[in-house]
Amino acid sequence: MRFYPLEKLINLHDNYMRHFKIDHREMLLLQHRGELYLIEAHCPHRAHPLDAASIDDGVIQCAAHHYQFALGDGRLLHASEERCRNLQTYPLVFEGNEVGVMLDD
Ligand code: FES
Repeated sequence: MRFYPLEKLINLHDNYMRHFKIDHREMLLLQHRGELYLIEAHCPHRAHPLDAASIDDGVIQCAAHHYQFALGDGRLLHASEERCRNLQTYPLVFEGNEVGVMLDD
């Protein structure tokens, strides 16, 4: 496992959202109502980019077909067509004045 720093804490604020690519993984770091989340960057349904999604009350809703996922654990909450897998979430790690993620090499 290796620590990948993503952002300085001083740069974070509500409605912050930034896309990261680390090796083959694409992730979104976002802050919503004071909570930070790191999730996969594309919807598990049909891979629509989630940086266009809307977020409300801890729930992210994909702009394409309005599937909804819990930001906290990625659970699929609403599917209008066939079900899909849960959203991948990543635990954040705070080190010094930065937040990042531990990933396999
Ligand atoms: S691609 Fe996200 S809901 Fe279909």
